[in-house]
Amino acid sequence: MATAKKPVRKKTTAGKNTLRVSLQTGWTYDPAPESKSVARIDKRYELFINGKWEAPLSKKYFDTINPATEEKLSEVAEAGVADVDKAVTAAGQAYEKTWKKMPARERAKYIFRIARMIQEKARELAVIETLDGGKPIRESRDFDVPTAANHFFYYAGWADKLEYAFPNRKTEPLGVAGQIIPWNFPLLMAAWKIAPALATGNTVVLKPAETTPLTALKLAEIIREADLPPGVVNIITGAGATGASLVQHPGVSKIAFTGSTEIGKLIQQSTAGTSKKLTLELGGKAANIIFEDAPLDQAVEGVINGIFFNQGHVCCAGSRLYVQESVAKEVIRKLKDRMASLIVGDPLDKNTDIGAINSRQQLDTIRKYISIGKKEGAEFYESDCRLPGKGFFCKPTLFSQVAQSSRIAQEEIFGPVLAILTFRTDDEVIEKANNTPYGLSAGVWTDKGSKIFNMTKRIRAGVIWANTFNKFDPSSPFGGFKESGYGREGGLHGLLPYVKLIS
Ligand code: NAI
Ligand code: MG
Repeated sequence: MATAKKPVRKKTTAGKNTLRVSLQTGWTYDPAPESKSVARIDKRYELFINGKWEAPLSKKYFDTINPATEEKLSEVAEAGVADVDKAVTAAGQAYEKTWKKMPARERAKYIFRIARMIQEKARELAVIETLDGGKPIRESRDFDVPTAANHFFYYAGWADKLEYAFPNRKTEPLGVAGQIIPWNFPLLMAAWKIAPALATGNTVVLKPAETTPLTALKLAEIIREADLPPGVVNIITGAGATGASLVQHPGVSKIAFTGSTEIGKLIQQSTAGTSKKLTLELGGKAANIIFEDAPLDQAVEGVINGIFFNQGHVCCAGSRLYVQESVAKEVIRKLKDRMASLIVGDPLDKNTDIGAINSRQQLDTIRKYISIGKKEGAEFYESDCRLPGKGFFCKPTLFSQVAQSSRIAQEEIFGPVLAILTFRTDDEVIEKANNTPYGLSAGVWTDKGSKIFNMTKRIRAGVIWANTFNKFDPSSPFGGFKESGYGREGGLHGLLPYVKLIS
């Protein structure tokens, strides 16, 4: 077996964060940074309310930075209670006066137009997503932005076909939807939230996460250019307090939240006893299960993608690996070999596999869990790569010999940290996989179709991938069991949270 060579830092003209990494093979890659020149980022952003950019009544602003360099990108308005009220009022008026009266086929045209404009501006959106959030440009370019456009296309198609989505039933929209999204897929989550709400005739107040507001604000520009009637979509920035005022506003009929289980529970408490409809998409601790008859190289690639994709900032990340005892040694060796070849560094570089951790706070959380894993006695391994001097970065890490009861096997880490456990029988792995408060996703790797069906029937998770991982499609519903939340987004199922079935 070849041993991994130490990555070497060479002088480049492409920026301080650019690394050239010698792989096991001895190959090196020249830096291939995507140009920042397409990204038009204003120095300051106001709130997008009633089709206009409005300075916040709170008079407050906060910075958003590039987590790969710690440099300020822009400052954005912090919506206070009065600003939230203004946005909800605008959405309420737009609902009553225009959007709910508009023929569905006309609504569809607007949604379709937004999708087309996302495609037209795809390159700029991808670069801004990478700058603001730290994810590799390859992912924002090839996954986030195209999938966001696809969600708008998909739901544009449903707008005038709701009678087929709910046969023999009559539907009505709910009114104003308050939507709160996280920082791991900023534009994509905005699309997941806005597209079905508009297709079903609701209006929207959306709050992006405080560390990644920029692509939602670019989406506001698109919505304005698409000539959507004012007030149909309002985008307000701010942190937890802004989100909480949106949740509590009496003019909101529906809350859709994606984020931590902790905040999801708070939101559940604050909407209890009201008529607000609620969907929650929360944390996860997905089990990726490799049986001895699986194609191991393919499985290893799937595990790598499952946990290191987007720095592990994925609620459905395959953060627990269950590998059948007979192949455990071989799988762990293959995983370590593959980890040694992963390139960590400048997110704008097209060679980069693992970009920047989204914030210092999240990096601290990940580091805390790495030290918990070491203290719990699991065997620790991290890839032998050098991290850039600035910014928030974390080496791809794995723990083997992990106990089922250990915290790194039970709690969501939300970083590039894999916990490996072993099993002997199907029943044992099902019990272990289900032994968590979460139930968002899982993966099964085996040559046998019957085993796949046995697993998918008995594992309590909303999405289970077979011989693949982290695959998404707008037509496919996504959502959790247990503390991973409730309600489904995507597909036909994703329409239901936004309608009343009235007959
Ligand atoms: P968070 O749940 O605090 O943030 C998510 C969104 O909720 C943000 O827009 C935030 O401003 C908003 N928010 C915060 N407090 C709120 C409140 N009281 N009422 C209404 N909205 C509120 O998540 P955070 O702190 O960024 O990350 C903490 C952990 O949560 C992560 O380490 C990860 O484990 C998990 N997480 C899970 C996500 C998922 O996709 N399921 C996404 C982001 C984080
Ligand atoms: Mg940022």
